[in-house]
Amino acid sequence: MSSLKEREAWATKIGLILSMAGNAVGLGNFWRFPRLLAANGGGAFMIPYFIALLLLGIPLMWVEWATGRYGGKYGHGTLGPMFYVMARESVKPRKALIFAIIGGMLAFSVTTLLNSYYIHVIGWTAAYSIYSATGAYYGADTVNFFFDHVKNFPMVMATWLIPMILLFIAAFRGVSKGIEAFNKVMMPLLYVFAVLLAIRSITIGSPVRPDWSSFTGLNYIWKPDFETLSRNFWVISLAAAGQIFFTLSLGMGIIQNYASYIRKGDDIALSALTTASLNELAEVIIGGSIAIPIAYAYLGPEVVKSGSLGLAFMALPNVFTSMGEVGRFFGTIWFLLLFFAGWTSAIAMYNYLTALLEEDLKINRRIGAVVVFLIYLMLGLPVALDPSLTYFAELDNWVGSYLLVVLGLFDVIVAVWLFKPDNLWKELHEGALMKVPAFFKYVLMVLTPIYILILLVGTTIDYYNQGVFAQADPLIVQARIAIIIILVLGAVETYLAISRKYREELAKNQVIVRAE
Ligand code: ALA
Repeated sequence: MSSLKEREAWATKIGLILSMAGNAVGLGNFWRFPRLLAANGGGAFMIPYFIALLLLGIPLMWVEWATGRYGGKYGHGTLGPMFYVMARESVKPRKALIFAIIGGMLAFSVTTLLNSYYIHVIGWTAAYSIYSATGAYYGADTVNFFFDHVKNFPMVMATWLIPMILLFIAAFRGVSKGIEAFNKVMMPLLYVFAVLLAIRSITIGSPVRPDWSSFTGLNYIWKPDFETLSRNFWVISLAAAGQIFFTLSLGMGIIQNYASYIRKGDDIALSALTTASLNELAEVIIGGSIAIPIAYAYLGPEVVKSGSLGLAFMALPNVFTSMGEVGRFFGTIWFLLLFFAGWTSAIAMYNYLTALLEEDLKINRRIGAVVVFLIYLMLGLPVALDPSLTYFAELDNWVGSYLLVVLGLFDVIVAVWLFKPDNLWKELHEGALMKVPAFFKYVLMVLTPIYILILLVGTTIDYYNQGVFAQADPLIVQARIAIIIILVLGAVETYLAISRKYREELAKNQVIVRAE
């Protein structure tokens, strides 16, 4: 059995923290969050958002870090085998295999399909960085401009190749020389760009109308709005909790994968909390001071509240145009900020698949990095070929929202209940630089799973009422078929990997292999 010594590891503590922050801080922070926040009543959204952060986000972050480091001790970087070694603490190996297959299948579908459209959005940000620098959208209708861009297949493919090639290089070079090295450059730059934009946003005054300013925008976000919340309680609460999963990279398998490269005995408790805090700083404090306030000042409340896909790509280009020449600079750094944010998350998904090939199928990392490139090339094509973005939206709805929450539930079932809460607590505190309040142990055992179950039931009922299940648009059907195929492939892959690694144990149906 491979031991931790043969595994790669993060070279430095700061590299680990920046890479984990890079994993979490993504398009979700600067593109998805303002869109949801604006569309769900601003201050009404923030209330369930913070509750979900406390009861779901932070506790699950600890669980996923602990799962990853524990799995790493057995030489595992993917979720299937990690769940297997944890579930064995309560059930016999053959039953543990069932939980492992579920976890492995879900993480496989997220890291393949979510990333297949996510990298495209990163490609758009690359294109828009160029458009901003050259002033290409100045004077144009920015909504039409955006749709012309996604219809421009050669341009979409060319700009999509920019993040793809960089992802390949980083995965090819490995965890410390590739991923960590890229994150150490991109993450500090990301924060510098974000702070520059936030300062610009709050010093902008009232450039268009006296009653439109970035401060009225900030007020819209920060003034608790219980009335709107109570009128749309379910919709807003579900959106807020879903965002917590997405933004913290929970329910994807990628936090566990990064945590598997942590050396035995290194802190995870404080590091996990630091990562979550860096993510929230980027999302709520700095991010919250950019897109919405700046759009409020230039475009007014109506445009902001319409909350379409467009805030980042359609509304803000108008803002940069209104700034005149200096807008080219701010536009470029806004889209570069999105690029860095997205890329440092996409590499975590890319690496998950590279690790899967390396550890489960014994394919050398360098060849694996090429294979993953080809997989994304294939899965990314249907996204590029559908400028209506229907296929994209359907994948985002199921893989980027629903399945994350399902996997979150299995995090609790396997890594808390089957692994046993006391074992989890012990694992979490091995080498810990802080003591996690015992309160969170009980939150994880009871409140988190109840919360997730309510979320899943609520979302399912919502979908049913909206007629989501009955939709028959060919692109929607195509996306659903893709999801089913990938889920089956993920299940088969996990089964084969575990039955090969734990052949004897499964044959005898008793635990034999133990990490030292
Ligand atoms: N957590 C990543 C994001 O926010 C996936 O985009």
